[in-house]
Amino acid sequence: MGAQRRDALDSHLARLGVPLGEGTLDLGELFGPGTPVVLEIGFGSGRSTISMAAADPATGVLAADVHVPGVGNLVLKLAESGLENVRVLNGDGEQLLRDRIPPASLAGVRVFFPDPWPKARHHKRRLITPRFAALVAERLVPGGLLHCATDWEPYAEQMAEVLSAEPGLVLENGGAVERPEWRPVTRYEERGLAQGHRVADFLAYRRP
Ligand SMILES: C[S@@+](CC[C@H](N)C(=O)[O-])C[C@H]1O[C@@H](n2cnc3c(N)ncnc32)[C@H](O)[C@@H]1O
Repeated sequence: MGAQRRDALDSHLARLGVPLGEGTLDLGELFGPGTPVVLEIGFGSGRSTISMAAADPATGVLAADVHVPGVGNLVLKLAESGLENVRVLNGDGEQLLRDRIPPASLAGVRVFFPDPWPKARHHKRRLITPRFAALVAERLVPGGLLHCATDWEPYAEQMAEVLSAEPGLVLENGGAVERPEWRPVTRYEERGLAQGHRVADFLAYRRP
């Protein structure tokens, strides 16, 4: 990255980035009091983050990813787009949820195409686990939506099992559904589709 782009990124980050820190985040301060807020974990290139935020400017999007170049990319694209309803965090989304998001505060959590970790010895690294589902259920407002998608069938089976077993959530259709029209095809998904993978979406709502 050139010095000019670096300087631009630093100044946009000061405005659009959420600093890694401690303590509960004040979502009203970040997005405006009363604004519904959705957390997206693992936005990758951020392409679908931007189009979903543009389609729904009244919702605040807190976008987290551990991958530094992806964060820079999203921040620069946001600055170009002029969108004001996205804030970006370079960090672990599960940790953010656990340590810095208050109970019953999120309108939604999005996890689109989390790393599939296909090898059995790596399954424990998968994000969608009973612990994660319970944490999300606790952080969602009643009726709030956990929306997951994957193109990896064994992970889809795990998602169906985990999400249907969480007592705080009601899984639409009891399993996978077709991609809802409000979720754009993501960059990662495009690659999976080109390889003939089947995509599964899961819509799990927080019990009232
Ligand atoms: C397979 S990519 C999918 C990216 C994007 N959602 C898409 O569909 O194009 C998974 C992304 O999740 C990010 N990631 C993995 N674990 C994470 C975590 N605990 N918190 C935040 N991001 C994470 C990775 O850096 C990567 O960008």
